[in-house]
Amino acid sequence: MRRSPFFHPFGEPVTMEGKRNNGKRENVDYSPTDPAGGGLSRREFLEQSGAAFVVAGAAPKPRTADAADAGLNLVEQVAEQEETAVPRTAIGVVVNGTEHLIEVEDRWTLNELLRDHLGLTGTKIGCNRGECGACTVLLDDEPVYSCSTLAVWAAGRAVVTVEGLERDGEVSPLQQAFMDHNAAQCGFCTPGQLMSATALLRRNAGPTAEQVRRALVGNLCRCSNYNAIVESVLAAAATPSAGRADPGPGGTWGGSGPRSGGSR
Ligand code: FES
Ligand code: FES
Repeated sequence: MRRSPFFHPFGEPVTMEGKRNNGKRENVDYSPTDPAGGGLSRREFLEQSGAAFVVAGAAPKPRTADAADAGLNLVEQVAEQEETAVPRTAIGVVVNGTEHLIEVEDRWTLNELLRDHLGLTGTKIGCNRGECGACTVLLDDEPVYSCSTLAVWAAGRAVVTVEGLERDGEVSPLQQAFMDHNAAQCGFCTPGQLMSATALLRRNAGPTAEQVRRALVGNLCRCSNYNAIVESVLAAAATPSAGRADPGPGGTWGGSGPRSGGSR
């Protein structure tokens, strides 16, 4: 019977009859080479195999001789490999009214682009897998989970984050209503709730409580402050500029400019 030396590392020498060698098999003796004929001690085995594992796990080959020649240490070599191996795409995207021309890694999520590369940390990351809604932003006026949207998909499109709701230090009517009705407890879900509610108000300026609940069904609040959140959205809907994407001509949210949307 063929047996692997790994099954009996400390005992008698074990012979494996063959191994693969360029597709052919040949007889190979895997016995420990202890000249005294004994097996490895437990300590010897652990020391030798541990050293082997460390070497195997920590020694990626430099991608090019240049990296080693350039005097890069191991961490820098790995970073250099990653940097050059990942596909990138140059995109143009409008975020909160500002156009950005930026090269993104194809694997970046929209959330990574916003938070890590544009510094817009108002958008939160909760579950990072499309379940909680904390990362919600508007993409061409539609609420999306930015954790589950690739940055390259935003190319040529308009993104609005929670930072985009404020103008010159003046919060939107919806944000004001959230404050007035204590809709934020810990506040972690609040940016996502605000963006989903903003999308609702832009397309339906006079929603019912049931419509508000439906619009926010993808936004979880771990503090269970749902009643206050719904009250806030209804209160904001009663203000003249609730659903507006931008402040009025005077540059303030309090103006009486036209609302966008209406019931779908
Ligand atoms: S962080 Fe995106 S849905 Fe939870
Ligand atoms: S206010 Fe805490 S999670 Fe919603």
